Amino acid sequence: MRLAETGLTAQDIKNKVSTYMIETYERFDFLAESAKDQYIYNENGVPYLDFYAGIAVNSAGNCNERVVEAVVEQARTLMQTFNYPYTIPQALLAEKVCQTIGMDKIFYQNSGAEANEAMIKMARKYGIETYGPNRYHIVTAKMGFHGRTFGAMSATGQPGNGCQVGYGPMTYGFSYAPYNDLQAFKDACTENTIAIMVEPVQGEGGIHPATQEFMGGLREFCDQNEMLLLIDEVQTGWCRTGKVMSYMHYGIKPDIVSMAKALGGGMPIGAICATSEVATAFSAGSHGSTFGGHPVSCAAALAQVDELLSHDLAGNARRVGSYLMKRLAMLPHVREVRGQGLMIGIEFDDAIDAVELKHECVRRHLLLTAIGNDVIRLVPPLIVTTDDCDVACGILRASIEALAG
Ligand SMILES: Cc1ncc(COP(=O)(O)O)c(C=O)c1O
Repeated sequence: MRLAETGLTAQDIKNKVSTYMIETYERFDFLAESAKDQYIYNENGVPYLDFYAGIAVNSAGNCNERVVEAVVEQARTLMQTFNYPYTIPQALLAEKVCQTIGMDKIFYQNSGAEANEAMIKMARKYGIETYGPNRYHIVTAKMGFHGRTFGAMSATGQPGNGCQVGYGPMTYGFSYAPYNDLQAFKDACTENTIAIMVEPVQGEGGIHPATQEFMGGLREFCDQNEMLLLIDEVQTGWCRTGKVMSYMHYGIKPDIVSMAKALGGGMPIGAICATSEVATAFSAGSHGSTFGGHPVSCAAALAQVDELLSHDLAGNARRVGSYLMKRLAMLPHVREVRGQGLMIGIEFDDAIDAVELKHECVRRHLLLTAIGNDVIRLVPPLIVTTDDCDVACGILRASIEALAG
């Protein structure tokens, strides 16, 4: 939809949102009317450089031509059937995903939180059916983030965080240990523990990559103790960190991995992939979803995966990410730059409030997000160039100077 076709102004749109919508988002002061590649355009066609990509979603570029064509073609051909008939996009995507990431089986959901619900449910059911009724306990990381449904929220080790406060008791059966502390994870496990669940880079927790010792150690510990390793790749997955999946940096494989965000190229889709053995926990009627495996989302994902792989956007994430991290470290008031590939966090000293900096950058036509008041997160489309990074760093520098001199 174009604003001009509605006869309304940008302010009218903002007014309707505040009048009729239940607002839980801290909005940019910006109306996004259209997008292409690494730019999002306002109602006057003014380009904004996109360094957040719908939060790590539009990895092959905004409105990627092949993804758009796949959506239009599939929407015209077959939109939704529930999961009773076989459908072509589901089957082709299942094969493509499993073969690409070296897992056996996929189950489709609609979002990251839903994928994590499925991952938690599968692990618990596998544990209870294989080892007995008490093997349901899962250890996750403090400051992790797994989503906003009750299971995923309970797996999120952030008591006191706004996403948990006010909702009453969390779901029973989780313990939390400090991230990157292998011994603490081992100590948190009991005879009832069936799984350890982590992000390979903590995203919402402030962009903290896992160490090799931690990830390798968790895999080994799970193997030795008949426990499952669950990896949440909702934000890190599909080339974002410089490998197709972030776990590939560590030379390990999960028993179940969750994914969403970048998989659909802008269409809603989530999924888990599991080993054949663990996947047996789900059988007819034990789990399901009306929209999971939607033909249009699966067709979009098939095109997206093909674009990511054929243009080696993981390689671009590695190359451009390392260039960008070096440039960012030269900015004033920076305490630390950390990340993996094109998933980067910049932590500032006390002179800079990350939320204010975000709004200042938006005023200068650079779109990025803040995590809390200390960290700026950069997760641009993976097609960005070093020239785009120079522009982004220029705007960041000007914005920092405007705020703190
Ligand atoms: C690691 C991780 N897991 C799960 C989620 C939840 O995904 P969704 O918002 O699609 O439910 C997110 C969202 O940011 C995430 O970063």
